[in-house]
Amino acid sequence: MAARRRKNVHPVDTRSLREAAARLRRGELVAFPTETVYGLGANALDAHAVAKIFAAKGRPPDNPLIVHVSDEKMLRRVVSQVPAAAKALMRKFWPGPLTLILSKKSSVPSLVTAGLPSVAVRMPEGVARDLVAAAGVPIAAPSANLSGRPSPTTARHVAEDFPDVFVLDGGSTKHGVESTVVALDPPTILRQGAISEDFLGKMVPGLRRAASSGCVVPGISPGTKYKHYAPSRPLILFLRKSSLLSYAQKHPRALILCPTPLSSLFPKQRTLPLGTSPEEIAHGLFAALRTRRKGTELLALAIPRRGIGRTVMDRLERAATRIA
Ligand code: TXA
Ligand code: MG
Repeated sequence: MAARRRKNVHPVDTRSLREAAARLRRGELVAFPTETVYGLGANALDAHAVAKIFAAKGRPPDNPLIVHVSDEKMLRRVVSQVPAAAKALMRKFWPGPLTLILSKKSSVPSLVTAGLPSVAVRMPEGVARDLVAAAGVPIAAPSANLSGRPSPTTARHVAEDFPDVFVLDGGSTKHGVESTVVALDPPTILRQGAISEDFLGKMVPGLRRAASSGCVVPGISPGTKYKHYAPSRPLILFLRKSSLLSYAQKHPRALILCPTPLSSLFPKQRTLPLGTSPEEIAHGLFAALRTRRKGTELLALAIPRRGIGRTVMDRLERAATRIA
């Protein structure tokens, strides 16, 4: 059954895009779909507007935001330099789910970057890019969830967390996990994301990983020290199938999140199949963490840290109450 559309949720069309752009220019917040997850946007050059993002999300002020641009001219309004290595990555991956850390221009309010001299920038695809272009200003946008909740991959998820914010509904997002965050010099992945480390590594010689848990670089990527992706109830992440099987037997009322082919291992239990390929699993992961289905606790099984599987594991580890 299709969920009833809420008053603040508007299907994407010429009129709603125009209204969303006008709201952004007026200093209001707008939630919009990107190819990764939904973002909660504000004019990145307007400190008052950006302050509304932090207030609405309950986001700690030391966690900087990503600035979204629609073209190179707009990029030049927020960054002071684009090194050759960054240009090469932009040519390859923009528009798309790659965020680059570059040195910021003074026109970017320090609230956006949490006082850092660098700014995170990306050029999103599709509706998000159209919206930024229509607004005519760079748009600061974190994921459109209350701080600590799973990132939203549908307009309904956004409306759950923000019943009063204007939401553009573009359906469920393509990737389902956030952009990959990369710092240059030396090239380092600060947060695993929709472009896998394996894939990026083929393009970027000497690419490093900041830390196994994703975006954890003390003092450099401040966002990562906070609890993330808290699911609707406790989540235990099992690294081995055998330990999941024996725990599940003793806890018949738990809900099991697992790759679809494995759900047949639990014929008598509630399962929430996540899909078969790592891409499918990434796509459905955050919706599963927000599930309203019955189950005393959520039990998830690790998947191989290959390709986008590494990103899935990063999110599961950060969402988990306990790893077994
Ligand atoms: O796919 C995405 O990236 C989505 C969509 C809306 O674009 N946005 C998103 O934003 O995931 P958010 O705020 O949830 O995550 C931004 C991450 C945080 O981990 C933050 O600490 C890091 O980027 N970040 C932002 N500015 C930074 C900077 N100057 N240096 C290092 N890390 C930064
Ligand atoms: Mg987020």
